[in-house]
Amino acid sequence: MARLIFPCKSSCLARTSLLGLISSAPVKRSVCSVKSISGYRCFSALEATHRRNYRFPHSLPYRARETSRRLICSIATEPLPKRVEESDMDAPKEIFLKDYKSPDYYFDTVDLRFSLGEEKTIVASKITVFPRVEGSSAPLVLDGVDLKLISIKVDGKELKEGDYHLDSRHLTLPSPPQGKFTLEIDTEIQPQNNTSLEGLYKSSGNFCTQCEAEGFRKITFYQDRPDIMAKYTCRIEADKLLYPVLLSNGNLIEQGTFEGGKHYAVWEDPFKKPCYLFALVAGQLESRDDTFVTRSGRKVALRIWTPAQDVPKTAHAMYSLKAAMKWDEDVFGLEYDLDLFNVVAVPDFNMGAMENKSLNIFNSKLVLASPETASDADYAAILGVIGHEYFHNWTGNRVTCRDWFQLSLKEGLTVFRDQEFSSDMGSRTVKRIADVSKLRNYQFPQDAGPMAHPVRPHSYIKMDNFYTVTVYEKGAEVVRMYKTLLGTQGFRKGMDLYFKRHDGQAVTCEDFFAAMKDANGVDFANFLLWYSQAGTPVVKVTSSYNAEAHTFSLKFSQEVPPTPGQPVKEPMFIPVAVGLLDSSGKDMILSSVYHNGTLQSVASNNQPVLSTVLRVTKKEEEFVFCDIFERPIPSLLRGYSAPVRLESDLSDSDLFFLLAHDSDEFNRWESGQVLARKLMLSLVADFQQSKPLTLNPKFVQGLKSILCDPSLDKEFIAKAITLPGEGEIMDMMEVADPDAVHAVRTFIRKELASQLKSEFLSTVENNRSSEEYVFDHPNMSGRALKNTALAYLGSLEDTEITELALHEYKTATNMTDQFAALSAISQKPGKTRDDVLADFYTKWQHNYLVVNKWFALQAMSNIPGNVENVRKLLNHPAFDLRNPNKVYSLIGGFCGSPVNFHAKDGSGYKFLGEIVLQLDKLNPQVASRMVSAFSRWRRFDESRQTLAKQQLETIMSANGLSENVFEIALKSLA
Ligand code: TRP
Ligand code: ZN
Repeated sequence: MARLIFPCKSSCLARTSLLGLISSAPVKRSVCSVKSISGYRCFSALEATHRRNYRFPHSLPYRARETSRRLICSIATEPLPKRVEESDMDAPKEIFLKDYKSPDYYFDTVDLRFSLGEEKTIVASKITVFPRVEGSSAPLVLDGVDLKLISIKVDGKELKEGDYHLDSRHLTLPSPPQGKFTLEIDTEIQPQNNTSLEGLYKSSGNFCTQCEAEGFRKITFYQDRPDIMAKYTCRIEADKLLYPVLLSNGNLIEQGTFEGGKHYAVWEDPFKKPCYLFALVAGQLESRDDTFVTRSGRKVALRIWTPAQDVPKTAHAMYSLKAAMKWDEDVFGLEYDLDLFNVVAVPDFNMGAMENKSLNIFNSKLVLASPETASDADYAAILGVIGHEYFHNWTGNRVTCRDWFQLSLKEGLTVFRDQEFSSDMGSRTVKRIADVSKLRNYQFPQDAGPMAHPVRPHSYIKMDNFYTVTVYEKGAEVVRMYKTLLGTQGFRKGMDLYFKRHDGQAVTCEDFFAAMKDANGVDFANFLLWYSQAGTPVVKVTSSYNAEAHTFSLKFSQEVPPTPGQPVKEPMFIPVAVGLLDSSGKDMILSSVYHNGTLQSVASNNQPVLSTVLRVTKKEEEFVFCDIFERPIPSLLRGYSAPVRLESDLSDSDLFFLLAHDSDEFNRWESGQVLARKLMLSLVADFQQSKPLTLNPKFVQGLKSILCDPSLDKEFIAKAITLPGEGEIMDMMEVADPDAVHAVRTFIRKELASQLKSEFLSTVENNRSSEEYVFDHPNMSGRALKNTALAYLGSLEDTEITELALHEYKTATNMTDQFAALSAISQKPGKTRDDVLADFYTKWQHNYLVVNKWFALQAMSNIPGNVENVRKLLNHPAFDLRNPNKVYSLIGGFCGSPVNFHAKDGSGYKFLGEIVLQLDKLNPQVASRMVSAFSRWRRFDESRQTLAKQQLETIMSANGLSENVFEIALKSLA
């Protein structure tokens, strides 16, 4: 999972996206609030004119202005008025799925030789090239960025200047030989100066690479596209003392030393691969070694590499890796295919981790853990991401993507696989709740904002910007729907056929769809729309019971909101899992459903059916259950069977009933959330009208009965008593009001804490951790429940509670408990908070991963005026703008506090605007994730809109802006 790292208060999985920092909702108004730019969600002709006339700042380079103009037209789905010659459009350029063409040349073998140095690194490549069509006279165009060309040879003969053409992004051979030939290119690069962390770069003294998506072109000239699959060898030469370990993909076939303190290693990867899976690591590293015996009896050497002092912290990662290897064999019949699997942990990494063939490279945060330094959430994230990258070996590497538009083919599928893996290793319900919360808090806002794009985007300027929660998490939901529709066995059949057909190929989302369909011989109607239509469908359900006919009807209607470039949508294929509860709370037996003029039996051979999947495919549609002998309460969209916003006519008492009785545990949680959302929204309205706030006693009672139910799973209780996030509520408002939402959520938390104080206190007492830290569901559940209770108590002004939290802090034997106590204490400003924060820093200053937690906790604080404190922390000796994790903790963390980021005086926006410009010069990918926090500026009141827009405009007019930031800022303004 492009494992995007961001501290997230609620679900705390490390790969939470940064792209959804600002919450959102369907924008219902269509006012042109600022100048002539209108709400992009409304596509009237008038508004399209506004957009076209929007003047981008004149300081933008001409070509950038032209691209902006084109983009605005394409978002408005208008024909592009011709104004400039294509050749003038050097940068930034928008790339379209519809323009995909097969390459004119393929590469067969690639031999790379790296000579790694302190001042410069020489990369020599030797490629065997052959044309797609014999006798072709097409030019061969190679990508190359920030490279110094030293020499180029064709079939051994050096080319002269007129024989090729070089520009800032390409090396072109206008007329290469017809038929097969060899191409040899020597280039010089400077990894030591590469702060972008893509291509070859240095991280704390070691060399490492990151080639996905288009970083290989920063290493050598190449056709940098995933449908070019070749067999690689890689020879690495370096100083032996400085870089004792030399790694690349595949098998080590040769190594040796020379005079002058140098040594070399030669690696050979027997599998064809696209260049984005190439990797190289050289440095001072040591490994934890283990073995895994595959089910066919092959012995695989496993090595996890880190600086020597961190090797003890790799035990959990190794456990996770072995568990993942076993799980993929058991569940999908997929075995590892080489004799060696390496994982390297590096402290400077833009994302979470990367699945390079047999040489996974990880952000240290997702490898290193010990009970004292890593929380339960960190342990869970490591399990999930180690699994994710390992699972890519089949879903991504053996079968890869034809082009980057197909990214979800590998990422959606692999996220689905890692979610299933984590479910099987822990609690399925709790994992599902966490995944759905993440989707709602990050993907829904994206899908309702200016960056909304389909699971398979239609275009991009910079591919890095499309490693999104939509491609990853919504993509995983799309894969999950196949499984919901086909069942476990049908899904497995589809997977088997997919591998049988496409092993060794670079394919498309249609190929995956076809495998699922053909393996099961089913009709999937318009299912493919899930790949092409953006926006979260809104599904409305009304129910009615006919006591005489003994029938129960569910009427569905669906609407997919307009998104940029897609004003009008077609109805989608939505699987809705349904059960009906009788008055005792038990599932009724379902016999048949009347639909589309026919009566369909839902019964299966002799087994009573308690839940069925309705296939909603039209704009409006009715399903009538027969033989229903009392008025049921429907449990809808069980297990969250489709990524939609469901609006039902269930009453509060129906919801309380479901909360208490539903056999689908996910829906028990969901009912509580629906109730909480309604309650919060109505209190927000009261707050805005300056009415006094009061809490519905039924709600307190409902939560109390969950909290005190000994039959429930403790982690489930922790989730069920947690209120929806502020972002989720702002997302549901006409105009997002961060102050009101924060005030209401704080009020409810405090009110619950004081009314249920004794229950929370005994929850803390009864769930103290055992001495020894164990990473398993029962232990983690106990900690989760205890720490949720402690967080509630921490909202009270109460010295007894402060004492308790301090006691928990001092006696904690693991990071989960220690950090939870610290968080509880730091809710309130004052001396205790300052002292404990200082103590924590002193204790952990030598561990950068723990220090990042310390940064994040302070950055996310809702204490008024916190921006000043965050500015101070920028100058803290432990902070470094060049390290992405630190940026995600401090800057990303700050944007996670709606009250402070959206402070009315614009101080939060100004802060982010300044940082983005500084960051962009160092690392465009990270800057671009940060600037995304602005993207939902239109959701707020006019004065906030003006302030945020000013920052975006300042950013747009900066000199030398990266394409990454340009694309996000532009689309946000459009
Ligand atoms: N393929 C990686 C994953 O999801 C994603 C990734 C890692 C990535 N590093 C990146 C994507 C840098 C873009 C840029 O597992
Ligand atoms: Zn991935």
